[in-house]
Amino acid sequence: MLIHSASQLLTLAGGPQRGDRLGQLEIIPDGAVLVEDEQILAVGTTQALRSAYPDEPAVDAYGKVVMPGFVDPHTHAIWAGDRSAEFELRLQGKTYLEILEAGGGIISTVRATRTSSLDKLLNETRPRLWTMFNHGTTTAEVKTGYGLRTAAELRMMQALLILNGEGPLEIVPTFMGAHAIAPEFRERPDDYTNLVSYTMLPILKDWWEQQAPFDRLPFVDVFCETGAFSLEQSRQILVRSKELGFPLKIHADEFDNLGGASLAAELGATSADHLVVTSAEDIRALAHSETVAVSLPCTPFGLAEPHYTPAGQILEQGGLLAIATDLNPGTAWCESMQFAIALACRYLHLTPAQAIAAATINAAAAIDRSDTIGSIEAGKQADLLILNVSDYRHLGYRFGTNLVQTVIKKGHIYHV
Ligand code: NIG
Ligand code: FE
Repeated sequence: MLIHSASQLLTLAGGPQRGDRLGQLEIIPDGAVLVEDEQILAVGTTQALRSAYPDEPAVDAYGKVVMPGFVDPHTHAIWAGDRSAEFELRLQGKTYLEILEAGGGIISTVRATRTSSLDKLLNETRPRLWTMFNHGTTTAEVKTGYGLRTAAELRMMQALLILNGEGPLEIVPTFMGAHAIAPEFRERPDDYTNLVSYTMLPILKDWWEQQAPFDRLPFVDVFCETGAFSLEQSRQILVRSKELGFPLKIHADEFDNLGGASLAAELGATSADHLVVTSAEDIRALAHSETVAVSLPCTPFGLAEPHYTPAGQILEQGGLLAIATDLNPGTAWCESMQFAIALACRYLHLTPAQAIAAATINAAAAIDRSDTIGSIEAGKQADLLILNVSDYRHLGYRFGTNLVQTVIKKGHIYHV
């Protein structure tokens, strides 16, 4: 199939974009892409590809932007239950950490998730995944973390594998047994930390090795935060994970600075996420590492808080910056990377081109998939979007509506 006549074909070719290189869209005007089966075969101008491949079935993208599918590298898209009442409490002045401390927040979703059947969990999650897909996300990282017990965490993982199998959204799974201290361990956080480190992780590893089509181990993530896991507890879990061969992620500096970002850099984590109250020293450590800094602008927006990731400092220091939605029932119920881009332009002060690179090729790097997705290059997976606009800057500039017309996932066409 030949997708042709795009007003702007954003290829994002050339790999992840560090520091001031961020924002290189590598645009081909009047661009075309040749797709065969699940793969991109060739990329070029309409004229060049049409004469080289005259007999291919054509998809006319005249006057439209064609770009790589969005990669959402941080979500908690799987859960059961409802937290709308909590939103109201927050509007009346309660803080997120106060609600968590009082046994609400994450723990209220844990109660609902533990008691729901696998089917109920799948049925509540599936529509969110479709909403993500229809808004242009072709691959999403999704975390467990509302089970906080071995069996309940594995059931969430099982559900993620089932949902990934159903498609079309491709799911990159993360184990987050360390999302909060399980309620039974409220007074014994070190015991829960040991349970995650020495019981859950080895069981997960054995279980995983029996899940046939998944060759790569899932990520392990820890919520390093006041009221969740201390820096030392986070270190214990991540070091243990690393010993077992799991790739690492961390939630750091969402509310308090505990040093989680520097820990991520030290341990060679794939990403460090949130990064709102990150110190200059942490930023330097991150920028001098391979760890991707993932900003989640929907979260302060969702919490109506005024502070966002100091993206300018991260880029100045030469860091690798990505953005994600953080889709979750507590702080940011947002399925749309387009909205994350709109916020990133306003509050991280990124240009649309920078935000688009952060949402595609750099987001792919944040889940260690930049060799197969995140750009339009020969040999990569055919995950593409056709937008209803002729200039890419409409992403960021416009918000609250969906600019995606067509999603192409592994070469299959879905009209939105
Ligand atoms: O990234 N901070 C921890 N996890 C989520 C919130 C999850 C929840 O409140 O259910 C976040 O903001
Ligand atoms: Fe999160």
